[in-house]
Amino acid sequence: SRIRSHTMDKHAEQLLFTTSKLMGVNFLPVCEVQTKEVVPSDVPTLEAIQLDHDSNCPHCTAATAHTKTVFGVGNPSASLMFVGEAPGAEEDAQGIPFVGPAGQKLNQIIEAMGFARESVYIANVLKSRPKDNRTPLPSEVEQCGVYLQQQIACIKPNVIVALGSPATKYLLQTQVGITKLRGIWGEFKGFPVMPTYHPAYLLRNYTKETRREVWSDMQKVKSELSQ
Ligand code: URA
Repeated sequence: SRIRSHTMDKHAEQLLFTTSKLMGVNFLPVCEVQTKEVVPSDVPTLEAIQLDHDSNCPHCTAATAHTKTVFGVGNPSASLMFVGEAPGAEEDAQGIPFVGPAGQKLNQIIEAMGFARESVYIANVLKSRPKDNRTPLPSEVEQCGVYLQQQIACIKPNVIVALGSPATKYLLQTQVGITKLRGIWGEFKGFPVMPTYHPAYLLRNYTKETRREVWSDMQKVKSELSQ
């Protein structure tokens, strides 16, 4: 609960009354009023960000290839956040990120890490499906990415996992490919970012080596979260 630190509490009022009456002085006695950190009100809630996004995002309000926008799902105070590329066909139909085949793989990864899907937060750089599932254009990423930044600022995760190239490029502001960057800690505005392969890539290249690499990246995430 918030405590108004600058208003006089009942005890202070009583003391002021007593001191004025007894000593003929009128001053506010020094007293300790318990204060608590006031919750900053300038950070919008996820719901407010979503409403703003859905009516104002230049990409999502102009794009015609999608049926539903896919804002994000999960725990608003998650310590772990996953960021993908853009909704696929199944996500577009349901309005929920990572519910298609790549989503099944992501669920397995999350579970293998020892977490429940509901305990993390999952979002994408683009909130609506690009035509024919093509790679997002830089202009689309710039427009829609603003809302991802707001989601991150609201959730304040301890770790962000960037799934695949577009998420890594956007969050780390780099052109270096995912093969070079995966497994190496980066940073987005002070938030630690672990780039790893996108689960769809993992499905297309389901080798011992790629599985070992993703698992090794997730072990780093787990150990960072347990600090
Ligand atoms: N691929 C993504 O990058 N995001 C989704 O939500 C689904 C598939």
